Amino acid sequence: MTFEKNILCIGAGYVGGPTMAMIAHKCPHYRVTVVDVNPERIAAWNSAQLPIFEPGLDAVVGKVRGRNLFFSTDIEAGIRDNDIIFVSVNTPTKSFGLGAGMTADLQYWEKTARQILAFSHSPKIVIEKSTLPVKTALAMERILNCREDGICFDVLSNPEFLAEGSALSDLEEPDRILIGSRETDRGLRARATLADIYANWVPRERIITSNIWSSELSKLVSNAFLAQRISSINAISALCEKAEADITEVARAVGMDSRIGPKFLNASVGFGGSCFKKDILNLVYLCRHYGLDEVAAYWESVVTINRFQQERFIETMLGAMFNTLAGKKICLWGFAFKANTGDTRESPAIFIARRLLEEQAELVVSDPKALLNARADLAGVDGSVRYVEDATLAAEGCHAVALLTEWDCYRHLDFERIFGSMVQPAFLFDGRNILDHGRLYEMGFNVYPVGKPPLVHF
Ligand code: UDX
Ligand code: ADP
Repeated sequence: MTFEKNILCIGAGYVGGPTMAMIAHKCPHYRVTVVDVNPERIAAWNSAQLPIFEPGLDAVVGKVRGRNLFFSTDIEAGIRDNDIIFVSVNTPTKSFGLGAGMTADLQYWEKTARQILAFSHSPKIVIEKSTLPVKTALAMERILNCREDGICFDVLSNPEFLAEGSALSDLEEPDRILIGSRETDRGLRARATLADIYANWVPRERIITSNIWSSELSKLVSNAFLAQRISSINAISALCEKAEADITEVARAVGMDSRIGPKFLNASVGFGGSCFKKDILNLVYLCRHYGLDEVAAYWESVVTINRFQQERFIETMLGAMFNTLAGKKICLWGFAFKANTGDTRESPAIFIARRLLEEQAELVVSDPKALLNARADLAGVDGSVRYVEDATLAAEGCHAVALLTEWDCYRHLDFERIFGSMVQPAFLFDGRNILDHGRLYEMGFNVYPVGKPPLVHF
């Protein structure tokens, strides 16, 4: 069978995998290949046990894999045989040298650009999907356009806005698709080619275009605004705890202003995930680079408040439990950075677990999907940690439970039984405010929500 378009994606991670599965699903007339340097990851994409958990992903991949979606480690053949290349390799925060801890580590991206340069026998459209610092596309263009045989590359920015846990529905019905290109004839043609791919299922009015730098910056700014909302509500949750106000009531009242809106106002133990912190730090680095120190400090405070919120959670636990956690058994409900994913990157649970171990508590970590990652995150950390998937069994014999991820399964547990199996007085710290605090208090728990007065038995 001949396909109308041959599309390649380099990087089979949380972004590349689901995005390409959706394109293959919506466009049976395109052939989509996903390549990765990691052979285990590719083997997992080709197996019944996909390497990432994402609701609905198994079904979509099951339908299209082997039909018009293929996973492979042959990067050279992939580049040679496809004219449209998405790049979604990882761009973690740099851990060494200049800009360490702030800017993105672009070594994987640059390596990919050089592979594209080396293995291409025909012109290509190269699309940035990974979140990158502004002006990365320019660097890519410079690397790619040093061929002497006249083969040209058009670099586009097409940031992905999907959120983990709802990736499939975000991809199926995106708020917008953003395509940044050069405003030259070639750039505009490449932009139109990419727009045509999305137009197979996304209404044209939701496909918006801009210059490349605006597109790159929009991604950073979207994530910065979202994270800022969470830090804003979390900052106010600290005040609520002092002032005996209730953060849920405040968020409700504030969110009903149609200019503000109700979403992303859930106070929590802090935001995690691979994007928010990384993107804000990128933005901060960029501002400092341009001498905008006040702007940099403004955005940096979003990250500061996030860490403050996590540290506050530990202080609340310590204060509640008589200022000592040494030798106490504490159960963590949830380790993923949010519900419906197994991803633990930058999860507040990592920080909380480490801090609790520093206080010499013994941990029992529970999560329906993230225990493998949790083990890797806590490998080598001193202290006692057990991993128990079942939330009820995990809490048995514990002095306290700290709910860190808003998994639905934690709402519907047999709390009477859990209470009866715990060391008394039993403490419950709800880092997501998803439980029925009044009912739990009546059962006998000492309940500590975020941003609300605690319910304590004296
Ligand atoms: C985010 C952006 O939403 C997405 O558009 C972008 O493409 C990637 O980064 P993601 O990190 O996958 O997506 O998840 P998101 O739903 O944004 O949650 C991020 C963190 O904020 C999670 O830890 C979540 O629990 C937390 N959060 C979210 C809150 O603490 N309170 C809220 O009200 C909302
Ligand atoms: P994201 O959340 O942005 O998708 P992930 O870390 O989940 O990030 O995925 C990025 C993927 O990119 C990883 O599977 C990694 O092995 C892959 N990768 C990194 N560098 C290269 C490269 N040069 N060629 C192909 N794949 C790469």
